[in-house]
Amino acid sequence: MNGDARAVFVKACHNSGPYAPGCTGNKKDFAVECRLWHGIILKDFVAHMQYEQTPSLPIPDESSAAHSARVADHIRDSIRSAGGQISFAEFMHEALYAPGLGYYSAGATKFGADGDFITAPEVSTVYGNVVARQCAEVLAGIDAGGVLEFGAGTGKLAADMLQAFARLGAMPTAYKILEVSADLRERQESLLRREVPQFVDKVSWLTDMPENHRGVIVANEVLDALPVERFVRRSDAIFQLGVGLQNNEFVPVERPAAALLAAAVADIEADMGARFADGFVSEVSLAVPAWIADIGDCLRRGVAFLFDYGLSRREYYAPDRSDGWLRCHFRHHAHNDPYIYPGIQDITTWVDFSAVAGAAVSNGLDIVGYVTQSQFLTGGGLNVEMENFAALPLPQQLELSSQIKTLTLPGEMGENFKCIALGRGEVPTPSAFQNADRTRTL
Ligand SMILES: C[S@@+](CC[C@H](N)C(=O)[O-])C[C@H]1O[C@@H](n2cnc3c(N)ncnc32)[C@H](O)[C@@H]1O
Repeated sequence: MNGDARAVFVKACHNSGPYAPGCTGNKKDFAVECRLWHGIILKDFVAHMQYEQTPSLPIPDESSAAHSARVADHIRDSIRSAGGQISFAEFMHEALYAPGLGYYSAGATKFGADGDFITAPEVSTVYGNVVARQCAEVLAGIDAGGVLEFGAGTGKLAADMLQAFARLGAMPTAYKILEVSADLRERQESLLRREVPQFVDKVSWLTDMPENHRGVIVANEVLDALPVERFVRRSDAIFQLGVGLQNNEFVPVERPAAALLAAAVADIEADMGARFADGFVSEVSLAVPAWIADIGDCLRRGVAFLFDYGLSRREYYAPDRSDGWLRCHFRHHAHNDPYIYPGIQDITTWVDFSAVAGAAVSNGLDIVGYVTQSQFLTGGGLNVEMENFAALPLPQQLELSSQIKTLTLPGEMGENFKCIALGRGEVPTPSAFQNADRTRTL
């Protein structure tokens, strides 16, 4: 990148305010640069995000509302057959994954400007390019290594990575996708057939965890989509927050926590060094340790790169965070009501990365590193990706600058999103983790 181009790029990347002076010297150009991502929810979250009260949410169109009513009926039936209440994790599972009905299982757009939120691979191809560079560093040391991607969304990350692998001369033996949603599997296949037909024969879809995977595992924003339990401390006891019905509406209900949940909360309190205050509400994911255990069983040799918004246990369960980290997204509005719009809104939580690290170690995996998304990208080859920046026409420079700002700035995705890399066997530490590592914070 020459000096002039770098100046434009650096200015664009560091002027985070919409009216920051001197970005392009031209307000109209600046507006072009900024228009793309501000106002779109970067699942989760830009620091300046305003949470919305549910009355100010957009009204769903007729067919979405009808779909949501069917999902609500389905969940009501589950609650009635369970005797009047189900756990929050069961509610979240049904709302997101009930076959043919749930948010991820049915046809809602979900990703991008026409959906409910946008994820890093959808923000910029550069993201997939850097992830591919990091994967290639690992694959270089493993004979016949392959890629296993969990929860591939639209398939955009897979398409970008396959193209990047081809450019790097580092094509893996196979690119496998494990996706729980049949609808998304179809979308992934059609995107790959359309965008990268030359590589489609490398790709296959799995229905179960493979055994003896050698190579890399990639999961972008999968951990946050795993169902969580909610709990509340009431003086000497932990109660599970479940979901019941009152006048046919979903309502939170409390019951004494079952042994597994009570033990999980006791572990967290022990780590925090104190009991939660009376009335403290939060979540705990019992699915995360099970999922990490599955990864531990499946990975013979290589590295699993897990990306998500999240933090350390100390931050997650800080006393001032007394209502947890559960969030819902509907048409680029973030709010806290999981009961409204079931099946047509996303329900998600931030990730307790200390829990991920603990489960990894218990399952014989090494913690290769833990960095912010910004550190991952800057340490992992973003500079190389930007080498031809100066040769791009100005509108493309502006668009790319905007994308890089979104991916790396602390008030956007740069700090809240993290990558934890888990390894097994002799594997090199990928360059993204060589100059920065926050594992000690977990
Ligand atoms: C928030 S989306 C992220 C999609 C995509 N990775 C991206 O970043 O755009 C979560 C994805 O994980 C999938 N998913 C949820 N639970 C899963 C599991 N246990 N195994 C594999 N995929 C899962 C969902 O169907 C969906 O594709």
